[in-house]
Amino acid sequence: MHYRPLGASGIRVSVLGFGAWQIGDPRYWGDDAESDAQAAVDTALDAGINFFDTAEVYGDGASEEALGKALGARREEVVIASKVAPEHCAPDKLFAACEESLRRLGTDYIDLYQVHWPFRDPSFEEAYAALDRLRHEGKIRAIGVSNFGRQDLTDWLAVGDAVSNQLGYNLVFRAVEYDIVPLCRRNDVAVIAYMPLMQGLLSGRWEKVDDIPPARRRTRHFSSRREGVRHGERGCERLLMETLGELRRFADAIGLPLATVALCWLLAQPGVSSAIIGARKPRQILRNVRAAELDIGPAAIAQINEITAPLKRALGPNADMWEGEDDARIR
Ligand SMILES: NC(=O)c1ccc[n+]([C@@H]2O[C@H](COP(=O)([O-])OP(=O)(O)OC[C@H]3O[C@@H](n4cnc5c(N)ncnc54)[C@H](OP(=O)(O)O)[C@@H]3O)[C@@H](O)[C@H]2O)c1
Repeated sequence: MHYRPLGASGIRVSVLGFGAWQIGDPRYWGDDAESDAQAAVDTALDAGINFFDTAEVYGDGASEEALGKALGARREEVVIASKVAPEHCAPDKLFAACEESLRRLGTDYIDLYQVHWPFRDPSFEEAYAALDRLRHEGKIRAIGVSNFGRQDLTDWLAVGDAVSNQLGYNLVFRAVEYDIVPLCRRNDVAVIAYMPLMQGLLSGRWEKVDDIPPARRRTRHFSSRREGVRHGERGCERLLMETLGELRRFADAIGLPLATVALCWLLAQPGVSSAIIGARKPRQILRNVRAAELDIGPAAIAQINEITAPLKRALGPNADMWEGEDDARIR
């Protein structure tokens, strides 16, 4: 495993992080016999993963609880990142939300406390002052944001600091490359990539769109005719499936699983400190951590960039995976 700095925080995180949404939300991810929070966390720790990401909203707190319980006495060895929901960013609510997260996690500090999505009310000044107080009190070690676009990140940084910005970023969703990642890099804000495997799509396990579980085909790639889709766009399903096919052939040609190639590519992107893999099955974790040790080289990266460029153009710079331009929450 390799470790990279989280902005200027002094905290070092493993290049692959553990996404704990999966271990506390069977309603979204489905009950699965292979899913075992304790085994997943133990496997990750043994593989050198020291970075664990959760949020108060995942399974209404069940993810934080499961993570805290599974880490147990090994809590001191790891970096815990959690997130406060945008509706809890007014000072009083924020203090209460942090206390609740601490209780569920069974710890007295959160290493990285992130604002899950941008908000308009209260002001960034008020929310930042509350977060800064939590930091002074030792309840959190560092402040981060998530899903902050160019305008919101600029406004936030005018008020205070953020060591990281957690963003949806993967081979078939490169919208953050247009201007958000460059802004993060100029300001030493570490990029933490979520959905590195596009919720499993980048493992190549589904051949047809109809095979993908409905909850996982609601992004702007998919037609707004599909169940639960909110973006109102036509989508680009054909281009997506063609791109995945080409990526699979490329991965076969270099003798690696597509998921490994997708993670290697992401870890080679400038500004990325860690990619958080959704992890509830030890077998998948073991397979995915191999990517941390591999360097597929600049020629392969360039080829992959070319394969995915048409999809990047088709989806454009709107970094909200689920909402169309007019309702985009990432601005
Ligand atoms: N900040 C935000 O707004 C935000 C949003 C979303 C996620 N996140 C964070 O990011 C974490 C990861 O996101 P994500 O859940 O979308 O991650 P992901 O890594 O893109 O997808 C994870 C899913 O992919 C499948 N998978 C993983 N490895 C595989 C393999 N080798 N072969 C086949 N399938 C494989 C698994 O599905 P099965 O379990 O069904 O097998 C797994 O649950 C979350 O846990 C959360 O902490 C943050």
